Amino acid sequence: MNIDSKNVEQIVKQVLMEMGGALPEKAKSAGPIPEKSRVAMLTSLEHYDIKEYPIPKLGDDDILVKVEGCGVCGTDAHEFKRDPFGLIPVVLGHEGTGEIVKMGKNVKKDSAGKPLSVGDKVVTSMIFADNPDITMFDLNKQNVGGADVYGLLPDDDVHLNGWFADYLVVRGGSSIFNVSDLCLEDRILIEPCAVLIHAVERAKTTGLLRFNSRVAVQGCGPIGLICIAVLRTMGIENIVAVDGEEKRLAFAKEMGACAAVNFKEYKGIEALAGAVEKAFGGYLADFAFQCTGSPVAHSNVYKFIRNGGGLCELGFFINGGDATINPHFDICSKEITTVGSWAYTLRDYATTFDFIKRANGIGLPLKKLITHKFPLSQINEAHETNLKMEGLKIAIINE
Ligand SMILES: NC(=O)c1ccc[n+]([C@@H]2O[C@H](COP(=O)([O-])OP(=O)(O)OC[C@H]3O[C@@H](n4cnc5c(N)ncnc54)[C@H](O)[C@@H]3O)[C@@H](O)[C@H]2O)c1
Ligand SMILES: [Zn+2]
Repeated sequence: MNIDSKNVEQIVKQVLMEMGGALPEKAKSAGPIPEKSRVAMLTSLEHYDIKEYPIPKLGDDDILVKVEGCGVCGTDAHEFKRDPFGLIPVVLGHEGTGEIVKMGKNVKKDSAGKPLSVGDKVVTSMIFADNPDITMFDLNKQNVGGADVYGLLPDDDVHLNGWFADYLVVRGGSSIFNVSDLCLEDRILIEPCAVLIHAVERAKTTGLLRFNSRVAVQGCGPIGLICIAVLRTMGIENIVAVDGEEKRLAFAKEMGACAAVNFKEYKGIEALAGAVEKAFGGYLADFAFQCTGSPVAHSNVYKFIRNGGGLCELGFFINGGDATINPHFDICSKEITTVGSWAYTLRDYATTFDFIKRANGIGLPLKKLITHKFPLSQINEAHETNLKMEGLKIAIINE
């Protein structure tokens, strides 16, 4: 074969195409893409309408993702009931995942440097609205204030802004991760798991979280249960779970808590703290994670912690009201080290993918957190089921 420079160019193009690598002159595409996409738009309190919008022309840095599924988050529940962020009309859904079906010619890699191709399964994290300093590799990160996420964006001309939809347009400059090595359920759980990876990283800054620490986890919704799973993958075994729902406490034990305390069985904080102490074999907790949005639970949690212990408060993603504590008894005289935790960084996202593999590897029932699945057309029913607190994680799985 006569390989002149023209042939070499042809061969390189051919190889790149087979590898799914970027061809410079035109955007890559995977088969026919419909002209329109459905979205579930929250148009008034407690009501979604299924609407259709044209799929827009992609920019050179944009990615079109065909949605496979998306979890319903507590924040979606707040938006559904009260619209605290004033976003209506809005396409919600930020715990989503799907497959790249088309990408602009400049797109080559994900936010961790992994190659991206049509057919890859992806999740998004933050969109950097105005703070490019929050990067993957910035260990001294500021908080994520200033960044947005798909699924909590005001509606605009594109409309395909949230994961409760058939398609999402990921704009250039947003973070995106190739997670093709995780199954659909695991991918749907990435976002809430990242919340706990971040919280545990915050907790570790106190220097009080050790292999043999006694750890109390208050609140056994998805957040508290994932907290237990993260602690277990770190090798922490002495975990006491506190909640008021027996089913959730039973799940906490399945997830690896060694004891469970039902706060409804105790009258007064002294009796409740006594029950936590008894569950640890006569000791208070070295460290506690507060995973409820209840101000009373915040007031209570200090009583579970020993002198010199630590607390990570992560239960208040939004304003849940004021809590009463006694600064002398609860903080000063006990010398409690407290950290707050809110959302996550991109680095936490990368850690989360490994955490999920480790949790599956040691047999933790992470996937069982997804208790209900609904198609997009039943999004109102999905939210109503979520509000009734019948399950744990409700997921929209696209038809
Ligand atoms: N820090 C963050 O970035 C972040 C991210 C996501 C969610 N959150 C917050 O975390 C909290 C938990 O989220 P979730 O999805 O697990 O919610 P959830 O409502 O499903 O679970 C909360 C659990 O707390 C229990 N509970 C209520 N009062 C209690 C009390 N006094 N003592 C012990 N248990 C009590 C409830 O029975 C319930 O099981 C929410 O308030 C949410 O807003 C924070
Ligand atoms: Zn969420």
